[in-house]
Amino acid sequence: MNAAISFTNLVKTYGGQNAVDDLSASVNQGRITGFLGPNGAGKSTALRCLVGLAAPSSGSAQILGVPYRELENPLSKVGTVLDSRGFHPALTGRQNLRVVAAAASIPEVRVDEVLEMVELSEAANKKMKKYSLGMKQRLALAGAILGDPEILILDEPANGLDPAGIAWLRKFLRMLAEGGRTILVSSHQLAEMQHTVDDVLIINKGKLIAAGTKEQVMGPDSLEDAFLKLTGGSLS
Ligand SMILES: Nc1ncnc2c1ncn2[C@@H]1O[C@H](COP(=O)(O)OP(=O)(O)O)[C@@H](O)[C@H]1O
Ligand SMILES: [Mg+2]
Repeated sequence: MNAAISFTNLVKTYGGQNAVDDLSASVNQGRITGFLGPNGAGKSTALRCLVGLAAPSSGSAQILGVPYRELENPLSKVGTVLDSRGFHPALTGRQNLRVVAAAASIPEVRVDEVLEMVELSEAANKKMKKYSLGMKQRLALAGAILGDPEILILDEPANGLDPAGIAWLRKFLRMLAEGGRTILVSSHQLAEMQHTVDDVLIINKGKLIAAGTKEQVMGPDSLEDAFLKLTGGSLS
């Protein structure tokens, strides 16, 4: 299988501490890969390096064999949901997506298509500041798939979702992966993600501690048990 995404000896240092510590890993095409680990493990930092929002201290992170900024038509290759994503609260969901679409020369009809896919058609003309957290997460996902990208990079998209929202997200990601897309999705909720992912990368204190298919990594246990075994039972 080809690596859609690869990290090679990636190090990111903040104030003398390695937030990401010599991370080498790859993400296979057409799979849902969970990038899992507790809060502070270094997931967001690694993803920010991957999409060019942070500069590696050393090592590298590549998408389809090149750094993100060297991709041609990046919005048609890679969709992202990262904490830094900025929609305008005073604009409606539809207006927000139209702004993104116009900036990327994506036809306006695609806006209504993705609103439908994330089940926001009825709320499309509501101001985003009136959206629930789940609706905001779905709007961010709609923005990520506007360019119909083959790769999705999602940082904690399940954060703050209720069980129905998490179940919806699981179905949505599966539907996208079945179309051949590659999805890298981070989460600190190992138990929630166990049912969503095919492959896992587990990171703790900046270091990769396990990688493989979900079945390989968890063995007869759950992902949470596997994590506790790998870290000697500590949750920090
Ligand atoms: N911009 C930053 N400046 C300083 N420290 C940071 C910055 N971003 C992250 N860190 C630190 O790096 C470590 C990893 O953080 P982060 O990548 O956000 O972890 P995660 O996403 O897994 O919760 C934490 O100790 C965090 O405090
Ligand atoms: Mg994070």
